[in-house]
Amino acid sequence: MTQKIAVLSGDGIGPEIVEQAVKVLRALDLSLEIQEAPVGGKAFDLHGHPLPTATLALAKESNAILFGAVGDWKYDKLPREHRPEQALLGLRKALGLFANLRPAILYPELANASSLKPEIVSGLDILILRELTGDIYFGSPRGIRTAPDGAFAGSREGFDTMRYAEPEIRRIAHIGFQAAQKRNKKLCSVDKANVLETSQLWRDIVTEVSAEYPEVSLSHMYVDNAAMQLVRAPREFDVIVTGNMFGDILSDEAAMLTGSIGMLPSASLNAAGQGLYEPSHGSAPDIAGKGIANPLATILSAAMMLRYSLNNSAAADKIEKAVQKVLSQGLRTADIYEVGTTQVGTQAMGDAVIQALA
Ligand code: NAD
Ligand code: IPM
Ligand code: MN
Repeated sequence: MTQKIAVLSGDGIGPEIVEQAVKVLRALDLSLEIQEAPVGGKAFDLHGHPLPTATLALAKESNAILFGAVGDWKYDKLPREHRPEQALLGLRKALGLFANLRPAILYPELANASSLKPEIVSGLDILILRELTGDIYFGSPRGIRTAPDGAFAGSREGFDTMRYAEPEIRRIAHIGFQAAQKRNKKLCSVDKANVLETSQLWRDIVTEVSAEYPEVSLSHMYVDNAAMQLVRAPREFDVIVTGNMFGDILSDEAAMLTGSIGMLPSASLNAAGQGLYEPSHGSAPDIAGKGIANPLATILSAAMMLRYSLNNSAAADKIEKAVQKVLSQGLRTADIYEVGTTQVGTQAMGDAVIQALA
């Protein structure tokens, strides 16, 4: 059966890195129907909207979406609804992609590329599970207005609303416990329950759900402490489950433990198993067009796509082994380069992964 993949490469380094991942998928000779569509700033330039109707329709009818990145400084002055980032938020919301898996794995070959000492990070293998369709990202009301009250009444104020409904917390908690069950059976729920009501409810519900998973040990941690523990003793974690905003921040932090944000893939899944797969990093406008971006996070995202949405773990394993092999051959893009290794560009890294598939 042919499976349909929507390829949305987006802005900045998006097209460069997605090209490598698509090359790898094609080299595997699977029966995939790959269709591309514009998204982000590129789509705004072409069609006046970052998420054109046709792009959204293609995403909805596909088994999976391979996504590059969106955003560029030149769009930062547009009204919010026209900014590239809205395409990604719109896709997540429209497809109900509430569960965002961001695995931070340190390949042994990159022990020195991590900003932490090898004795602290070697062997690191943690999973950050980020709730992706709720929280302050999507809560209303929000806006910029004249403050109606308080010490600054009459002056301009910006406001957003952090909110989580019980079923939203419950479903991500279940995913967290199930992920932990398949791993080292440790789940750490990260919140700010000492200050926020949203977090208090989060903590209560996660605790309630834990009764259904007696073999998983649950701990709770405040987000500020979690940020600290991630750089103090990251291997203490197995699965971290947290809300949208805390997960955004902690996953970038965890990325650095793996050597570079260019190494961190992600899967965003809905209840039907449909998924959007993208590197955890952005469009990196500072290096776009130079041919030096690390494509491995995107290639590893394609592997996650095969595993989680296309039911092809064998092909996923193959890609992951190939990535490991090119690293052990000493090939490095600039972001993970160290003396004694061979620096290669984006294309050459993609080619090397294909070579290593054999
Ligand atoms: P960024 O992740 O794009 O870049 C941060 C730093 O990491 C930069 O120095 C960049 O060069 C480097 N980097 C990122 N990916 C890399 C790769 N594959 N190889 C080598 N180096 C890499 O974050 P930013 O600079 O805060 O944001 C830039 C733009 O991207 C903004 O418009 C932002 O909104 C957008 N953004 C998009 C996504 C997404 O599409 N999922 C995610 C984050 C940021
Ligand atoms: C990410 C990004 C996005 C987010 C932005 C671009 C909307 O930072 O995927 O981590 O904040 O979720
Ligand atoms: Mn982010």
